[in-house]
Amino acid sequence: MSEPHIPAALIQRLRSARRVAVLTGAGISAESGVPTFREAQTGLWARYNPEELATPEAFRRNPQLVWEWYAWRREQVRQTTPNAGHLALVEMERRIAEFTLITQNVDGLHRRAGSHQILELHGNLFRTKCFNENRPVESWPESTDIPPRCPQCGGLLRPDVVWFGEMLPAGVLRAAEHAAATAQILFSVGTSALVYPAADLPLTALTHGATVVEINPQPTPLSPQATFCLTGAAGVILPALVAQTWGLVA
Ligand code: OAD
Repeated sequence: MSEPHIPAALIQRLRSARRVAVLTGAGISAESGVPTFREAQTGLWARYNPEELATPEAFRRNPQLVWEWYAWRREQVRQTTPNAGHLALVEMERRIAEFTLITQNVDGLHRRAGSHQILELHGNLFRTKCFNENRPVESWPESTDIPPRCPQCGGLLRPDVVWFGEMLPAGVLRAAEHAAATAQILFSVGTSALVYPAADLPLTALTHGATVVEINPQPTPLSPQATFCLTGAAGVILPALVAQTWGLVA
């Protein structure tokens, strides 16, 4: 396969950038084998109805179904490993003075790859909280209850992810907005740019004069506004970008 072409102007800007933000979506984990959401046939929302699985109402109606669906997703993700796209972002973080990785993904693959400055906008599949009190819960007594019960209040436990109709964690969103507003370059990688408020972050960066780079095999609503669109898979483009910018064999 031939090396993807990265525009020289982008390489120059990245070499001298001090503040870089990266927004990732499900597409960056696709090459690890984690399904995306909106792609025809293979996307999770093509096969499952989010209204039955990813809303507080769904959990109230059928907590067992929702708990078990997330348990299945955790199991799926446990069998995957970070790919070359995740690893290239670890390299990028090492080379940029102020680097913020903002992810919509709940799969934890960026941390497993070795990234440090991570803002998880939509929570994490591997964390649990109390549905009643919204408090994180790390362990609970073994039982046959599905979902298990909160050891403090006896309420139902739920995955610590953001469901449709719920607010994003306020501190995390604020930090992401700050990173987007102050970045010199923002990369939008593997996201359909359809879900707000995450989809606003590249627009915030543009408003503040940043270079916005989209990395995606398909166009998105962001594409017409992006400064550069690098068309292709994150696991191919990101390593090439890092290699061509800093002369590494990624
Ligand atoms: P989507 O499924 O909406 O979009 C995935 C994007 O990844 C698409 O634009 C694909 O073209 C692109 N893609 C596919 N393979 C790729 C690859 N190898 N490299 C790069 N890009 C690739 O997923 P998100 O944008 O992450 O929210 O969805 C946003 C949110 O909607 C999710 O966090 C989730 C979902 O409902 C919640 O659950 C709250």
